[in-house]
Amino acid sequence: MRYSEIATQKASQPKEKIRILGIETSCDDTSAAIVENGTNTLSLVTSSQILLHREFGGVVPEIASRNHTKNIGEVVNGALEQANLTKNDIDAIAVTACPGLLGALLAGVSFAKGLAYALSVPIIAVNHIAGHIAANYITHSELRPPFVCLVASGGHSHIILVRDYMNFEVLGGTCDDAAGEALDKIARELGLPYPGGVYLERLAAEGNENAFGFKSQFNMSESRNFSFSGIKTAAANILHSKADVNKADIAASFQRAVVDTLVFKTILCAQSVSSKQIAIAGGVSANKTLRNKLKIACEKLGMQFFCPDLKYCTDNAAMIASAGYYMLQQDMYNDLSFDARATGDLSRLMDLV
Ligand code: KG4
Ligand code: ZN
Repeated sequence: MRYSEIATQKASQPKEKIRILGIETSCDDTSAAIVENGTNTLSLVTSSQILLHREFGGVVPEIASRNHTKNIGEVVNGALEQANLTKNDIDAIAVTACPGLLGALLAGVSFAKGLAYALSVPIIAVNHIAGHIAANYITHSELRPPFVCLVASGGHSHIILVRDYMNFEVLGGTCDDAAGEALDKIARELGLPYPGGVYLERLAAEGNENAFGFKSQFNMSESRNFSFSGIKTAAANILHSKADVNKADIAASFQRAVVDTLVFKTILCAQSVSSKQIAIAGGVSANKTLRNKLKIACEKLGMQFFCPDLKYCTDNAAMIASAGYYMLQQDMYNDLSFDARATGDLSRLMDLV
């Protein structure tokens, strides 16, 4: 029998426990995880390349792909070992296929294809953003669509209506910089290490968030969209023009401007579709001020608030395995001919199948 026939047969076999190996290499983390039935993480191993990229102040694509290729075998073996399983216990492989750095994605996709072929198991091409959203199911197994999810990371800031596990509608989003991108830029201006979001959060804890008003009429308007480039330039200009400025005050005030915008627009989007459930995802969702402010806003409005455990906020393979599980439930698995893509539109997820 050919690979595709065996994989199709395996995908349609009813099983009590479905164990999916997730592989994530879209940026600078090489990550593998095994997740059972979409919500139970049996293992998660991530090899971070941050120190390799730090001296360049950002991710260098060529270095990222080379190191993914070097590390992926060991990371996958580590995930199997941590779960106390062998390759033959894997029911399917889910791999990030878009969006991300093309060379980095290709390293994971090529490895996943080879392994899926060798094991004759179905392969599932996962959209990275759908993965971030699925991180919420791992932490809150009781969460069911529909809900509104803010996905805020280094490359994306979107507010998404999750109609069903794999049915999404983008309600709003940034017109320019992603939230993480803006935070990283100001962190860099403040002399903080890359990636700056978490360091800016620490510095902000020592500052006064009302010291500077980084105001934007657009961000407080009824539009579902928002913009960070204007306030980013305003903060950078102050840092360039005033030598004795209190850096902690800048960090706190800038963080406040970003967080308040995200909270306001997420609530606005949820109200526009009468949703009573709000979730957050992506690296920026690790920010405690964002988590607290959105939680308080939801409580005031009688909405339920969900956020992933910190380890599932930034890039990780468990979220990819979880998304893969819900895709497999809907027969959204692939043959081996799909390609990695640098761009990826959530409403075109099925294009990969
Ligand atoms: O989701 P992610 O790991 O990678 C992308 O898909 O982009 O997100 C990385 C982004 C970076 O911009 C990083 O600075 C930001 O998430 N980030 C944070 C925090 N932790 C990570 N931003 C604010 N506060 C944090 N605690
Ligand atoms: Zn991400």
